[in-house]
Amino acid sequence: MSGNITFSMIKPCAISRNYTGNIIQFIIEHGFKIIAMKMIWLSREEAGKFYEIHKERPFYEGLVRFISSAPIIAAILEKENAVDDFRTLIGNTDPAKATQGTIRASYGTDIQQNAVHGSDSDENAQREANFFFSSLERFY
Ligand code: RTP
Ligand code: MG
Repeated sequence: MSGNITFSMIKPCAISRNYTGNIIQFIIEHGFKIIAMKMIWLSREEAGKFYEIHKERPFYEGLVRFISSAPIIAAILEKENAVDDFRTLIGNTDPAKATQGTIRASYGTDIQQNAVHGSDSDENAQREANFFFSSLERFY
């Protein structure tokens, strides 16, 4: 069982395809409360820092370029067991492998342009939430 906070991002691919409203509605309908949200355009440097956990991975450079190519929507979501439940809701990293009805199956394009981000642990949820939001921007 995970804690009650996760961090999410709607990625540039989903925003440019006009899926923002559908995705936010879907998240709320599945019991998550939005306690912080903003649209922001990350620089290459900022995107690189956000994803520094993947620095050694072959997809890192492409991922950083993609995430800094246009604005994203960052959010902190609250729900019991938030990290695990949100990972279930978004589905497999590769939309082609994601269970039908998950966000990535519905709105993802490919393994890189997979519509949304969801934290993979409580520790990373805290780190990622702190990366984007000050205490003044959170409404618990
Ligand atoms: P996320 O962090 O965005 O929620 O995704 P995830 O945990 O399911 O996947 P992760 O392994 O953390 O990868 C982070 C993001 O990197 C891109 N990626 N591209 N080209 C590739 O093979 C590849 N693999 C991963 C995706 O945008 C993925 O969400
Ligand atoms: Mg991840």
